[in-house]
Amino acid sequence: MDVERIRADFPILASVIYMDSASTSLTPEPVLDAVLEYYRGYRANVGRGVHRLAGITSQKYNDAHRKVGEFICAEGGLIFTKNTTEAINMVASGLKWERGDRVVTTLLEHHSNFLPWLRLKEKGIIQELDIVKPNQEGLLEASDLEDRIDDRTRLVAVTHISNVLGTILPIKEISAICSEKNTLLLVDGAQSVPHIGVDVEELGCDFFAFSGHKMLGPTGTGALWVKDLEVIEPSFFGGGMIEDVSQDNYKLAAGYERFEAGTPNIAGGIGLGRAVDYLTAVGMDEIMSHESKMTRMVLEGLSEIENVHVYGSTNLKDRIGVVSFNIEGVNPHDVALMLDEASDIMVRSGHHCCMPLLKYLGLEGTVRASLYLYNTEAEVDKFLETVEEITNVV
Ligand code: ALA
Repeated sequence: MDVERIRADFPILASVIYMDSASTSLTPEPVLDAVLEYYRGYRANVGRGVHRLAGITSQKYNDAHRKVGEFICAEGGLIFTKNTTEAINMVASGLKWERGDRVVTTLLEHHSNFLPWLRLKEKGIIQELDIVKPNQEGLLEASDLEDRIDDRTRLVAVTHISNVLGTILPIKEISAICSEKNTLLLVDGAQSVPHIGVDVEELGCDFFAFSGHKMLGPTGTGALWVKDLEVIEPSFFGGGMIEDVSQDNYKLAAGYERFEAGTPNIAGGIGLGRAVDYLTAVGMDEIMSHESKMTRMVLEGLSEIENVHVYGSTNLKDRIGVVSFNIEGVNPHDVALMLDEASDIMVRSGHHCCMPLLKYLGLEGTVRASLYLYNTEAEVDKFLETVEEITNVV
């Protein structure tokens, strides 16, 4: 993998070291080109007009759905959303809940895979939200969930990879338990799809949500894959999502269109399709091994600095390059500001939209460095050097 060639596609990297890709990634020039080509060359709406531009746009927008679906090895059922949060909320509001239903989730969840279920409980739509705790390293066994899934459990909603600790959950094993117990499984893939090759059929889930803007796509893009589109009802109603409407009835469109009411984020969707082409051309295996080398450097380097505490498993096979840490006695936001000021390093700090987990770990916040294909070992060295300098001055 030629990192220098890749970096040339991200001009912003000339001025910063970007280690906040778990929040949102940078966007390469070919994706920007695809967005601008749409606006400049053939802009029209999708699925409506019959003129030439409408035909080109609809074709490209459909192609983008196909490409993004193929990227996660999905056949059909791929809906574009504005992010993972919207995708998960569509399942929460679209499932036909029945009295007494339970949802099982974990304490590793981002608020986007927690609040929708908490709200259903608050409104009395589900009877119970059962929250499975990981160990202090952020790891969880499928068997930890097994006893918690009973015949009233309608849905298990779990993250694929923790956005705070970078730890990977055993989704295939969880899915086997869900199949045996006849329970639906939703997976939050926001942190996995950009970094590891995902095959939704192999994972065996019913719903898979992820964000396009964390995988080189434009902001305002994400997706929801649904194994069987009939299992949920659309959350939004209006133009572009029907086959027929009369004064007292309507018939929904057959495909993803039924979940994309109104004019969608066409440029974003086409840009996301191009992002997937970009990642595929680089190769997900190459990306994984590049990130894994840098993750090892970060974990080993931080562990050697006095007064630095790293959270989550340090075993590389359990995790990806999302690394949370603190410097003893220093507020994480101050560390983030110092990293920026001293060395132009961008990291996220705070609770990472994961307050229940942070409370469980006894933390108010962490500094989080997250890596992607465009980071280099030299950047990691600079990062470690700067963290050490900070520990020496505070
Ligand atoms: N989900 C994003 C993060 O973890 C915003 O930073």
